[in-house]
Amino acid sequence: MKTIASRSRVPTQTRKALRARNGNGHVSGSTKIKISSRVAAWLKKPKQNLIGGKWAPAASGKLFDVFNPADASVITRVPDSGKEDINRAVSAARRAFESGPWRRLTPSERGKLVWKVGDLILENADELAELESLDNGKPRAIARVADVPLAADIFHYMAGWATKIEGNTIPISVSYAPGSQFHAFTLREPVGVVGQIIPWNFPLLMAAWKLAPALATGNCVVLKPAEQTPLTALRLGEIFLDAGIPEGVVNIVTGFGETAGAALAAHDDVDKIAFTGSTEVGKIIVRAAAGNLKKVSLELGGKSPNIVFKDVGDLDVAIAGAANAIFFNHGQCCCAGSRLMVERDIFDEVVEGVARYAKKIKLGPGLDPSTEMGPLVSEEQLNRVTNYLRQGKQEGACYVTGGSRAGERGYFVRPTVVKDVKPSMSIVREEIFGPVVVAEPFTKVEELIPRANQTQYGLAAGVWTRDISKAHRVAAALKAGTVWINCYNILDSALPFGGYKQSGWGREMGHAALELYTQTKAVVVGL
Ligand code: NAI
Ligand code: MG
Repeated sequence: MKTIASRSRVPTQTRKALRARNGNGHVSGSTKIKISSRVAAWLKKPKQNLIGGKWAPAASGKLFDVFNPADASVITRVPDSGKEDINRAVSAARRAFESGPWRRLTPSERGKLVWKVGDLILENADELAELESLDNGKPRAIARVADVPLAADIFHYMAGWATKIEGNTIPISVSYAPGSQFHAFTLREPVGVVGQIIPWNFPLLMAAWKLAPALATGNCVVLKPAEQTPLTALRLGEIFLDAGIPEGVVNIVTGFGETAGAALAAHDDVDKIAFTGSTEVGKIIVRAAAGNLKKVSLELGGKSPNIVFKDVGDLDVAIAGAANAIFFNHGQCCCAGSRLMVERDIFDEVVEGVARYAKKIKLGPGLDPSTEMGPLVSEEQLNRVTNYLRQGKQEGACYVTGGSRAGERGYFVRPTVVKDVKPSMSIVREEIFGPVVVAEPFTKVEELIPRANQTQYGLAAGVWTRDISKAHRVAAALKAGTVWINCYNILDSALPFGGYKQSGWGREMGHAALELYTQTKAVVVGL
C-alpha cells in the first residue's frame, strides 16, 4: 500500500541505472532514462481533481505519492480524495445531467464531441504513452501501439453510436380495452449520473472503455482511477476540457478504493456504478450499491484456460500464442491465458517452447526502448505474485523457468512457467495477475472441458486446433465471455467483452455496452 503524505516533492526527471544485466530474467536498463520535457513539465504542475469543469484540490488538502514501479521513486503526488470530494463531484455531475447544456445537444453534436476526444488522444499519443509507461511500468512502445490507439478507437467507435440509439414502435393489443387504439413506442434514455471505478493494468484504456459508451449515450460521469495509476486519467481530464465536453459531464477524482471508491459506490445520488477490478471488491461494490439499488456492471478477475491440441498444425505459432497469452502486460490482464492446457503428446514440447520464450524476455524499465517486459505495477502486486510463487513451491509444483522476483529494485518478476500442478493448488485456482503460467496436460476432450470450466471465473479462453468441428464444439462448451480460436488477446471496440460466472456482469464494448448506459422507457399514446 502506498504511503499517504501531504508535502509536495519535486518530481524525479532522470531514472538511475537499474541493473546492467541482460536477458534470462535479469533486469536491464540504460544508465539514464530521460523523461521528455513535455511530460516532465506536466508532472511538475500541481495535480488536482476535475470537478464541474474546474481543477480543485482534495477538500482535505491531502495528497498521496504516485510511484514509478521500475525503481520505486516518487513521480508526483495527486489528491487523496474522500467522501466530501465525491459528494462535490456527484453534485457537479447531477447538475450537468439535469440542467446543463449536455442533455440539450443533438445526438450528432454529442457524437462529434466524443469523436473529438478520440482525435485529441491520438494527437497526444506520445505524451500519453510515456506517462502510462512511467506510471504503470509497461513498455512505452507497447503503450504507444496498443493502449493509446485503442483508447482513441473506443471514443471513435462509440461516437458513431450517439446517432443510432433507437427505440421501437410496438403494436400492442390491450385485450381489456376493446375498441381503443394506442400508439406505443420505446425510448432509450441515459441512466443519469454514473460512477466509474477502474484498475491500474490499462489505466488509460480502462478509462476509455468506461467513459466512451457513457458519454455517447448521454450520461454524466464521476471517474475514480486506481490509486496506483492516476496520471493518464488526469491528463485525459484536460483532453475532455480541450474537446469542449461541457463542464460537469466528466469529473475525475483521484483517491484510494476504501475511501473515494467506497464513497462513490455507496452514493445515493449515483444511478449506476461501473467497476473493473478484483472479484473481491466487485462483491463489495454490489453490496454498497444496494443502498439505492443503483445499476451495477462489473468486469472482474479471470483464470482463463488456453487449450492446445496436438492437431494445432504449426506448433511454433501456438507456442508464441501461448507465451503472448500470459506474458502480455506482464500477466496483468484479466483475460490472461494463465492456465495452459496441452494435449499430453505435445505437452513437453509446448511447455519447453513457452519457457524458452520466457527466458528470452528482456526485463527493464518501461521507458527503456529495449525493454520487453516492465515491472509489476506496485509493491503490493509484487508481494501478491511472489507469495503465490512461494505457495506453489511449497505445494510441490515444478518451476520450469522463473519463480521469483528479478533484481532488488523496482517490482520485477521473472516470467514463470510452472508444471506438475494439482487442481487444489492456489496457483491453479486463483488469479495471480503476474507473468506466471500454470501448465497442465490432458488426454481426452471429455476430461478437458470440465477441468477447463472448473473455476469460479469465466472471462476468456483459448483453443488451438486445425480441426474446425472440434474448435467449435470446445468453444461452445467453454463457460467464458470470450473464446479465441487459433489466436489470443484479440480485442476490438466492436466486440463485446465481459464475464461468465464470477468474472462479471454485463458486456463492455460493442453495441452491448450501450445496454449498460441506457434505460428503456415505454410510452403509450391513447389515440
Ligand atoms: P482492486 O479491485 O482492489 O482495485 C480496483 C479498483 O477498485 C481501484 O480503483 C481501487 O481503488 C478500487 N477499490 C478498491 N477497494 C474498493 C472499495 N472497497 N470500494 C470501491 N472501490 C474500491 O484490485 P487491486 O487490489 O488493485 O488488485 C487485486 C487483484 O485484483 C489483482 O491481483 C487481480 O487479481 C485483480 N484485478 C483484476 C483486474 C481486472 O482487470 N479484472 C484489474 C486489477 C486487479
Ligand atoms: Mg485492492
